[in-house]
Amino acid sequence: MNGRTHSSIDRLIQGFDQALHTVFGPAPAPSRPTPAAAQAKTDLSDAEREIAGRLMRINHAGEISAQALYQGQAVTARLPTVRNKMEQAATEENDHLAWTEERIRELGTHTSLLAPLWYAGSFGIGALAGLAGDKWSLGFVVETERQVIRHLDSHLARLPDHDAKSRAILEQMKDDEARHATTALAAGAAALPGPVKALMQLTSKVMTRTAYWI
Ligand SMILES: [Fe+2]
Ligand SMILES: [Fe+2]
Repeated sequence: MNGRTHSSIDRLIQGFDQALHTVFGPAPAPSRPTPAAAQAKTDLSDAEREIAGRLMRINHAGEISAQALYQGQAVTARLPTVRNKMEQAATEENDHLAWTEERIRELGTHTSLLAPLWYAGSFGIGALAGLAGDKWSLGFVVETERQVIRHLDSHLARLPDHDAKSRAILEQMKDDEARHATTALAAGAAALPGPVKALMQLTSKVMTRTAYWI
């Protein structure tokens, strides 16, 4: 077996292991402590807990998709520098995954039962974006992150005012996503065609609506 085949198989096995961890948890240990830890615990009513739990479940499902998108792109991206950037961003997304997962448990609910579906679909989309070429793949990151930021803003408006822990997590995620978008732009991202952006919005709408309930 030559070195190249070996490293491809290694990557495949590593990728599969990563996928199982992402979908079935627990998320690998985060590289940074959860921003929720710095916030005092506040009492939430049952109704507030329920809405916060549902919203955090959507965010967690989104982070599963983010992992899958980045991991899919990392498999097909051509330039090693782009591949490294994607893997680095995926590591930061893992913090988001771990933080939202922990918060969901604290709020007494569960992660989306359709996680394997979100992962598989997003992995395929990420791999396609990677195949389309690096500038498109980076453009895809920029557009994804912009949509995620708008979505996080809408959740910050819907979360109970005094759910400081969930809010702190989303605020930090917003900062990180904005940085991912800036990095991708600086690395040479192309602007995606309008219909692709619209399709991405539609896909994320299906996911966010569904993950609210299951
Ligand atoms: Fe994220
Ligand atoms: Fe991100």
